[in-house]
Amino acid sequence: MEHPVIERKRAASPESQLPSPSIDQITLQVNGTAHTLRVEPRVSLLDALREHLDLTGTKKGCNQGACGACTVLVNGDRILSCLALAVQFEGADIITIEGLGSGGALHTMQAAFVEQDGFQCGYCTPGQICSAIGMIQEFKAGLPSAVSKDSSAAPEFSDEEIKERMSGNLCRCGAYVGICAAIRGAFKAEATR
Ligand code: FES
Ligand code: FES
Repeated sequence: MEHPVIERKRAASPESQLPSPSIDQITLQVNGTAHTLRVEPRVSLLDALREHLDLTGTKKGCNQGACGACTVLVNGDRILSCLALAVQFEGADIITIEGLGSGGALHTMQAAFVEQDGFQCGYCTPGQICSAIGMIQEFKAGLPSAVSKDSSAAPEFSDEEIKERMSGNLCRCGAYVGICAAIRGAFKAEATR
């Protein structure tokens, strides 16, 4: 039993006056499956995926938008799930690395990373792959980057463009040569289909 003085102090502390956090019930559509979960409004999409849905393929690196390890696709766009609140994404189509492909049925980008040794420890790889898929969609839509020569013309798919557009995804192992080759390979493979 707690000492009465400590108990009185705790009861009078500002923290004890705070209302208990509200819990929202939300349904997230992840990798084609609807999941209903109960989360506080402050829970990030990254934590909802990892801690509530056990989808640990999406990695937590910096948890502050600086490394890209947590990148997932939402309605086809790449986003940093550590900077997004889970409650914002009801009804959205969320794809994580687990939803892209597995085993003998890899997504073109996953296969290209294997083919080109686009990783060492693999920690950044799910984020790199999701980001690369989103990046190619942006490229195909004609969106310019900071290194595009002419922002009104269709960008050229060069290594310079790949490096610039993937600059938000860091790799502590320095596997950038393989990552760049994998993205180039996946883009060519898609173009020749
Ligand atoms: S964990 Fe999200 S950007 Fe680093
Ligand atoms: S492969 Fe190790 S951090 Fe990128």
